[in-house]
Amino acid sequence: MRGDSARLHQIVANLLGNARVHTLPGTTVLTSISREPGTVRLSVHDDGPGVPEAQQAKVFQRFARGDSARSRTGGSTGLGLSIVAAVASAHGGSVQLTSTPGDTVFSVVLPAPDDASSTPRWAGRVTP
Ligand SMILES: Nc1ncnc2c1ncn2[C@@H]1O[C@H](COP(=O)(O)OP(=O)(O)OP(=O)(O)O)[C@@H](O)[C@H]1O
Ligand SMILES: [Mg+2]
Repeated sequence: MRGDSARLHQIVANLLGNARVHTLPGTTVLTSISREPGTVRLSVHDDGPGVPEAQQAKVFQRFARGDSARSRTGGSTGLGLSIVAAVASAHGGSVQLTSTPGDTVFSVVLPAPDDASSTPRWAGRVTP
């Protein structure tokens, strides 16, 4: 797909960073990318403790942090997923979360014309 490569890199870095810091050592993280007609889907799966159900609706908002983040000393602002959502939106895409203990998937779905030479559908500034 065409897009802002630095921002798309940031999506992957934020999701992988979360899978690292919000899980315990020994957790397995699996990243996949797949193509569907007109879109690409990037998914980051982990088998860590997951995002509590009550928190799931809020995690893409700015400054939303769970207990796993608050108990850490420094480094966590609660902005990472709001940036993921803002970058996906700026590319005309969306983010999804499904999470139960041991089975958490963050997915980013982005428009990707089957003809890669066509005009990019993203534009503008990202303001998370
Ligand atoms: N893979 C995950 N497993 C469990 N909880 C997660 C996972 N990813 C995110 N979370 C929860 O979602 C919250 C919001 O994530 P977000 O990336 O926005 O902020 P953060 O990681 O706390 O801080 P920042 O990314 O700004 O350093 C986290 O504080 C954490 O509670
Ligand atoms: Mg984060």
